[in-house]
Amino acid sequence: MDREKKYLPCNIFLIGFMGCGKSTVSRALHDICDAPVIEMDEVLVKREKMSIPDIFSSKGEAYFRRIETNLLTEMQEGKASIVSCGGGVPMRPENVAEMQKSGKIVLLTALPETILNRVKNDDNRPLLKGRKTVQGIEELMEQRRGKYQKAADITVSTDDKSAEQIAGEILELL
Ligand code: S3P
Repeated sequence: MDREKKYLPCNIFLIGFMGCGKSTVSRALHDICDAPVIEMDEVLVKREKMSIPDIFSSKGEAYFRRIETNLLTEMQEGKASIVSCGGGVPMRPENVAEMQKSGKIVLLTALPETILNRVKNDDNRPLLKGRKTVQGIEELMEQRRGKYQKAADITVSTDDKSAEQIAGEILELL
């Protein structure tokens, strides 16, 4: 039987390192909340008609970061959504400011070992090329930790939890 879905008063932006579970948790939130999911990477891939690795190699990372910022800015209009952000989004202060204007920012965390396990067979993340070791992941995580934490309204760890459990925790904390 269909449960009545929860009303979402503002956007929820899921941020965090690659493989921390943003996409999976956004779908679990969508099962509970009456709000669409916006998967930023997917939107950009459709717009550019190119995979993420191809955008990075043919147009460069700086180009990718610009179209990512443009997409976030567009999101200020329209129905409240669950936004699964690319892992690099909180690195730019202007992106954080955009997200703060229209919603709550939720940081998902996971241990480097958990991340490695989730991304080890994935070739769609150019920044993990040559970095698929606990140490390689830890180093990049360390570089990003401060900005992730500064951006976050709430933080939820994802190790050894189901997506439903994480979604429940997020809604309780918000
Ligand atoms: C990136 C994360 C990726 C994607 C791109 C860059 C990053 O998204 O946007 O490869 O800089 O952390 P996911 O976090 O969804 O893997």
